[in-house]
Order: sequence, then C-alpha cells, then structure tokens
Amino acid sequence: MTSTRAIKVLGIGGSLRDGSQSERALHIALSGAREAGAETDAITGSALSLPFYDAGIDDRTPEAAQLIEAVRAADGIVVVSPGYHGALSGLVKNALDYVEDLRSDARPYLDGRAVGVIAVAYGWQAAVTTLNQLRTIAHALRGWPTPMGGAVNTAEVKFDETGGASEEKVVNNLRLIGRQVTEFALARRTL
Ligand SMILES: Cc1cc2nc3c(=O)[nH]c(=O)nc-3n(C[C@H](O)[C@H](O)[C@H](O)COP(=O)(O)O)c2cc1C
Repeated sequence: MTSTRAIKVLGIGGSLRDGSQSERALHIALSGAREAGAETDAITGSALSLPFYDAGIDDRTPEAAQLIEAVRAADGIVVVSPGYHGALSGLVKNALDYVEDLRSDARPYLDGRAVGVIAVAYGWQAAVTTLNQLRTIAHALRGWPTPMGGAVNTAEVKFDETGGASEEKVVNNLRLIGRQVTEFALARRTL
C-alpha cells in the first residue's frame, strides 16, 4: 500500500552567528522542499551546539536526542555548512557525527535518503571544497547527495531576513536542491 503521509525533510546547519547566511540559505532550500510537497523542520544555530559526539556513551542530552530522532524520522535531509578554513564547520560536523547513533537502525545512517548539500563561504575556494566534503560525508552515511549541490559565495551574494537574496539565480538553485530532496523521497516511495 502506498503511504499518503507527507514527506518529511529535515534541515541541519547554519552557524551560531546572528543573521547566519548559511542558515538563511538552508531556509531557502527548505522552501523548495515544501514547494515539492514536503513538510519541513530545521535544527539550526544553538540547537546544534551539542557536546562533542562520544561513541563510548549512550546518554544523550535532550537536544542531541531530538536531533537523532529528527534524522531517524526524516525522509530527506538538507545540510548547509559555512566554510571554515576550507572545510565544514565543527558545529555542523559534530551534529553529523551524531548520525552514528543510527548505525543499528533497520534503515542505518542516512540510508535511502537524499541529502541536499550546500556550502556557504566568503570565497569560491572554501565554498567548493566544503561542498565536496559534504558530498563525501553524505556518501559515507549511505545517503544520496542531490545532483545539484550549492556552492554559495557570500562575497558576491547576500541573503536577507525575508527569505530572499541579492541573486535570484542563487535562490532558484537552493530551492531546486530542496525540491530534489523531496522528489527523491517521493520516487522511492513508489518503488
Ligand atoms: C572561523 C571562520 C573561518 C572561515 N574560513 C573561511 C575560509 O576559509 N574561506 C572563506 O571563503 N570563508 C571563510 N569564512 C567566512 C565564512 O565562510 C562566511 O562568512 C560564511 O558566509 C559564514 O556563514 P554564516 O554567515 O552562516 O556564519 C570563515 C569564517 C569563520 C568564522
């Protein structure tokens, strides 16, 4: 029987900075996921400020447990990281390390799920290297990185508070990534 419940897409990312550009990029991608019919949720900023992931303990903080449960329940994921010194930020990497807690699930890690990957940096080099790292991590977690990835250079584009940006084509690319995440989940549902 085909399920009719809404596809759930979870966004993870951003930085702790007020007005985080990467968090704004995440919300634009999630609006694309909604356009394609998904329900969306986002875990961003201070909600990602978790203890360093420790594989040797089972106890998790309420915030970490919430992240793990949200990933477990998601049909698709969007991950956005700022580029820090040419790489994804420690905040986002540590959050992704918690996906290890899904290793024994029937659907382990990000298995069977599309992962929209977006990097936001103040230059092309870090935007592209960080995007590549996010793709590699999505593969390592058995996810399916979206065909369209986002490499955003905030020296050339600014995201505003209202869900827009100075470059319409960047907004369109980010929305497309969100749509691809939802469309992949819908396609797999019919298999
Ligand atoms: C610790 C740190 C390291 C950074 N390293 C780089 C870098 O290597 N290359 C780059 O282009 N931008 C770098 N940036 C700039 C950020 O990637 C850029 O400002 C991005 O838009 C920040 O995202 P946010 O607004 O979500 O915090 C760095 C910023 C910080 C705070």
